[in-house]
Amino acid sequence: MPINKATDPISLISFGEVDSTQEQAKRLLAQGKPAPFLVLAESQTRGRGRLGRSWTSPKGNLYCTIAMPCRAKPLAALTYAVALALYDCVVQCGVDPAILALKWPNDVLLDEKKIAGILIENISQDAQGVLLLIGVGVNLRFMPTEARWPPAKLDDYTATIPSPEFLAQDLAGRISEYVKALEDHGFGPLRGLWLRRAYRLGQEIGVSGDEQEPQKRGVFLDIAPDGALLLQQADRVAAIYAGDFLR
Ligand code: BTN
Repeated sequence: MPINKATDPISLISFGEVDSTQEQAKRLLAQGKPAPFLVLAESQTRGRGRLGRSWTSPKGNLYCTIAMPCRAKPLAALTYAVALALYDCVVQCGVDPAILALKWPNDVLLDEKKIAGILIENISQDAQGVLLLIGVGVNLRFMPTEARWPPAKLDDYTATIPSPEFLAQDLAGRISEYVKALEDHGFGPLRGLWLRRAYRLGQEIGVSGDEQEPQKRGVFLDIAPDGALLLQQADRVAAIYAGDFLR
């Protein structure tokens, strides 16, 4: 796995239509392109979301993947670091932070509606750490007509929409900084930042569960040092590592 030094700037490679920027990044890695790098596409024919879902990807929104090595621990903290970087980008676009929130595990909500999605794939591991593909889609001018969570788009909230190139590079820079903070100082400081922006912290919420308990309900207590969502149920505190926040 060829890897550049962490201090190298992240190079941007732009495409028109691709299947998925995640797949495009994998192809570039297979061809020997050293990480970190940033893949940007105008549109995607097979955009992927979390949990095997599809991500509608018409021209006009942001679709990018950052391929980067990472030695941060716990790895689950990455998802919070990327969400914080994206939150900062949206604020930078002129959106009032009062209407922004972070929904577990990694959605940015604007007016309680989903404006962006994050998909993190860990594609290889060695003694130095892992190689991540951090895929981000932001609804700039379009949003899906049907979605599990009500969608939003940026141009309903700000007068000036940045170009996808600018936004992708801004985001990649902020992600690199948060990841470095995570590597240097651990999850504690970032966890505090994320919790201050958390959607429905301290309130009754529902999270998708497993076959035995398809829906877990309880009070959103905290995020644990290992990255789990802590849910206070009637008789216990459940630690949840993956799933969907239910409406
Ligand atoms: C989600 O909320 O389910 C995550 C959506 C992630 C979508 C982005 S768009 C760029 C990158 N390429 C993909 O195929 N998916 C991610």
